[in-house]
Amino acid sequence: MDLTPMNKQTETVLNYHNRTKHSLERYAKGPESIDWEDQPDQFRRFSGCEIVTLPKPGAELEPLFADLDNPEAIPAKPLNITNAGLLLELAFGLSAWKQFGPSRWALRCNPSSGNLHPTEAYLISTGESLIKPGVYHYVSHDHSLEQRCRFEGILPDSGILIGLSSIHWREAWKYGERAFRYCQHDIGHALGALRYAAATLGWSVELLAEWSDDDIAKLLGLDRDDFKKQEHESPDIICRIHAHDDSKPFDTKGLLETAQSGTWFGKADSLRAYHMYKWPVIDEVSTAASKPRTEEPERQAIRRPPRMAEVSQSVGNRCDQHTIKSPCTKTATKIIRQRRSAQQFDGKMPPMPQTDFYRMLAAVLPTTAAFELWHWPPKIHLFIFVHRVEGLASGIYALPRHNDALEPLQAATLVDFDWQKVSEAIPLYHLYSGDCRQIAKTLSCHQPIASDSAFSLGMVAEFSETIQETPWLYRRLFWECGLIGQTLYLEAEAAGIRGTGIGCYFDDSVHEILGIKDDKFQSLYHFTVGKPLEDQRLETLPAYGHLNDFV
Ligand SMILES: Cc1cc2nc3c(=O)[nH]c(=O)nc-3n(C[C@H](O)[C@H](O)[C@H](O)COP(=O)(O)O)c2cc1C
Repeated sequence: MDLTPMNKQTETVLNYHNRTKHSLERYAKGPESIDWEDQPDQFRRFSGCEIVTLPKPGAELEPLFADLDNPEAIPAKPLNITNAGLLLELAFGLSAWKQFGPSRWALRCNPSSGNLHPTEAYLISTGESLIKPGVYHYVSHDHSLEQRCRFEGILPDSGILIGLSSIHWREAWKYGERAFRYCQHDIGHALGALRYAAATLGWSVELLAEWSDDDIAKLLGLDRDDFKKQEHESPDIICRIHAHDDSKPFDTKGLLETAQSGTWFGKADSLRAYHMYKWPVIDEVSTAASKPRTEEPERQAIRRPPRMAEVSQSVGNRCDQHTIKSPCTKTATKIIRQRRSAQQFDGKMPPMPQTDFYRMLAAVLPTTAAFELWHWPPKIHLFIFVHRVEGLASGIYALPRHNDALEPLQAATLVDFDWQKVSEAIPLYHLYSGDCRQIAKTLSCHQPIASDSAFSLGMVAEFSETIQETPWLYRRLFWECGLIGQTLYLEAEAAGIRGTGIGCYFDDSVHEILGIKDDKFQSLYHFTVGKPLEDQRLETLPAYGHLNDFV
């Protein structure tokens, strides 16, 4: 077959996807042994940069988690260094330390597969009011900024931007070839974490989706010779933070030129671990799925999505008197900082309230506030294994996240599925009744968290058509999954239970159970929600207790 260059890239992406599937017979290629003493440093630092210590972390803000449904009702905090620090802390900062015997590890507000945290975050300041204009790397361990670049000359003040990148090798150290997928999930989670943090401050996040990866690399200094070869960072996302209701146009070209002619400082410290294994397919897929500059549909700088309260209203009216307004009375800052992954669930939990279940599903619909920044039609749909939900038969359910996907999903899955609509207010369909606990556990690499929960689910992507002409959309599919996952994590906390992302599942066995026969649809991420069992052997220590000298 004659392959155009673009098709070759798609082919590389497809090959990567297929070879990194886990199956009942074999796991995707990974290291044969892991030396835990040799784990890559979780915290990147650049030597030779001026350090800006951010104001003391841990501040509480007033908005309740439930208030985030209507972000426009939250008064915007002023854009100053205290609040920008809080934004970074609530999105990417430490949330606690855990200790077991001599081992101690940090947890963060954003989750990460294997707690390896390949995502790095940067703050770009374009004006004098907050911090000297330039590019800053966020060090979550110290809650500080390292100034990587000082901008020279005058730039229109457009507030702050946040850039995200991934150190693929940090993840591949443990997970081998499949790690590229996890890095993309983590970016989606980080983006979600940023959105919730911004909403808590009364701010909003605009994804600058037209930027190419090369542009992002130039702005963040990732194309510079400041990194050890295998420890480079790959550019992922650039966002503009709107702290005011302003929609001043943004001078991308001017900002890039300013960064390139700026004064750069520092070299990335080595992540220290020995590079015993190499995973060249990750570099190959990363190149094949790199994003060019694109034209994006014009968007309002601050798009006001339909309010969750309106969704709630309609559910309240039409859905057996259920209301899906969040019952959570905790502040958003508390929920964000208490988010954790459940390691184990209580398999004897009473069924979770149906209203909480509907609320969680309603929260991941594309019309809600959490998806305000996502400008594209949804490509990810949920297939849910219901184990313990009040008033719902155990079995398999589907939540197509837009109407147009309903028929193709019906056509692509088992003819035995009955597709009975369960609710008028949310697009939830019953497919099959039966105890699916064992199936869910087996599909999720035999992990009991998928069966001892209230429900677990697979996120199924509109796959082949999405990436056919546009291979870099492969990454965006995973980001959308991560964004959904982050919403579920926080909604689960708000409902008094807990979630866990599941990256380990047997891809084609999931497809087989659902009846999916080709790559029109593919399952890209799993998630589970239930009543957590705490491991009493673990001690929890405060997030920033190790730092005492805060300004
Ligand atoms: C993309 C992704 C995949 C994950 N996969 C699994 C998994 O298969 N099994 C599991 O027990 N936890 C999984 N987790 C949970 C992580 O292990 C957890 O986020 C990490 O240890 C950090 O802990 P925290 O979420 O409590 O901060 C996953 C998390 C993410 C973000």
